[in-house]
Amino acid sequence: MKSIAVLCSGGDSPGMNACLAAICKAGEHQGFRIIGVKNGYQGLIQGKFKSLRASKAKEFIHQGGTFLGSARSEEFKTKKGRAQAAKKLKDKGIDKLIVIGGDGSYAGAQLLSSEHNIKVIGIPGTIDNDLFGTDSTLGYDTALNTVVEAVDKIKDTSKSHRRFFFVEVMGRDAGFIALRSGIAVGADAILIPETPTVMEDLFKTLAQLKKKKKGGIILVAEGDDAGNAFHIAKAVAKENQDYDCKVTVLGHVQRGGRPSAFDRVLAARFAIAAIEGFSKGLDSAALGLRHKAIIHYPLDQATKQHKQLNEGLLHILDLLN
Ligand code: F6P
Repeated sequence: MKSIAVLCSGGDSPGMNACLAAICKAGEHQGFRIIGVKNGYQGLIQGKFKSLRASKAKEFIHQGGTFLGSARSEEFKTKKGRAQAAKKLKDKGIDKLIVIGGDGSYAGAQLLSSEHNIKVIGIPGTIDNDLFGTDSTLGYDTALNTVVEAVDKIKDTSKSHRRFFFVEVMGRDAGFIALRSGIAVGADAILIPETPTVMEDLFKTLAQLKKKKKGGIILVAEGDDAGNAFHIAKAVAKENQDYDCKVTVLGHVQRGGRPSAFDRVLAARFAIAAIEGFSKGLDSAALGLRHKAIIHYPLDQATKQHKQLNEGLLHILDLLN
């Protein structure tokens, strides 16, 4: 019986468990043994393998996180670390690996494939949605819903007290979460790394809200060029001491929780496409969702090309304010 190894790498994201469960089931159907690797690439270097069973894995589909564990491995970034990881796979007779993770995980997968001839299929799993080549990544939809739920609550108190809330959302290098959830919650402004933040424009927006005796919601992606939410709130309070400014950092709340129905179904579709890909002899590839279809494309495209924000959504946000 041939084996396929699977690991989750980088920041966890809701839907990873559902994906693992579907990989196990689809693997069984196609006659593969599915071997889980604990704690991402770090676990691979250490040879932390365990056989997975579909019936057991299915128990986790409604839970966030990953029952395999995840990690960010510095050691895997070295040639020596990757050679050790490849050896552990080969010693077990495995030459096929599924990696569920974000751009850093894909970069590692690409190197493992090119340096050691391991066939790797990448499944996009990150709440940030910043992977080139896919309309959505696993966990993004759930994270958006988490942000919307939290900001709706903050909006209630913002309105009552006519306060300005600076709500920091995740996105070290990307504003996908801030932009889409900003539209969904009716944010008064969003500050994201992709567009230069002009503080004077923000001051104008806030002055207009103040004139109308209103509070406001400003979503700040953690990687914004003007600084984090605390930094921006401080600059605003300095500009006008009449402003009542509050900061909420949503942080890792966005990474956990039950995956949405959308993420669970997407997880199953990616899983089945990965197993079918291997069973049909597909070499290394990245999987993506494009115009509602699951597609595969070269791994290095996913790592070398930069995903652009949807200009249409930026326009919508402008129109709504
Ligand atoms: O998973 C991506 C991400 O959530 C980023 O948005 C965030 O900056 C980062 O992970 C936080 O990572 P860690 O949990 O390792 O601090």
